[in-house]
Amino acid sequence: MNIAVLVSGGGTNLQNIINAIDSGELKYAKIQAVIADRDCFAIERALDKDLDIFLLERGKNLSKEIQEILSEKNIDLIVLAGFLSILSGDLCVQWKGKIINIHPALLPKFGGKGMYGARVHQAVLEAGETESGATVHFVTPGVDEGEIIVQGTFPVEEGDTVSDLQQKVMKVEQKILIDAINKISSDHSDITG
Ligand code: GAR
Repeated sequence: MNIAVLVSGGGTNLQNIINAIDSGELKYAKIQAVIADRDCFAIERALDKDLDIFLLERGKNLSKEIQEILSEKNIDLIVLAGFLSILSGDLCVQWKGKIINIHPALLPKFGGKGMYGARVHQAVLEAGETESGATVHFVTPGVDEGEIIVQGTFPVEEGDTVSDLQQKVMKVEQKILIDAINKISSDHSDITG
């Protein structure tokens, strides 16, 4: 299964996918493209691994340019791994069931436009939640609204800071993103043989 990983930030999740492919934990996936919407550290990680990288400009043509790369690279699954641009409704509909996102909270809580990174953890702390986690879900035109594939949780302890939650989330994300891709790719290989 050919995957495109879309990134905007540190690329921890991209690195997790790379490592899982290298270790054999992810058997059926191959990264055919890394697409970034800004200069970011994830690009360094992709360069280290000699992956095909596309650095695009944010703006009204972004989704169209992404679509062109997806068909050129024969992509089967799009993974939004810390990708911060909102994709067009058309792209989301066209890729229904073949585009997933990782979100640093337990959706449906703490999702939607503007809810990303540290802002999510701040909101979790302000709400006095005793548990948080991460979610991998299918992407639909409604931001963070698609069907949930897998979630992982951790306790929020007294005195936890945004940076504590960030670290706990990263551990959970490492597992659930690989679980979700494995699930989708084994379904895919059942169909394609
Ligand atoms: C991850 O925690 C991911 O869940 C979050 O951004 C971080 C990216 O880290 N995504 C969102 O907030 C999307 N709404 P990374 O670039 O190091 O993988």
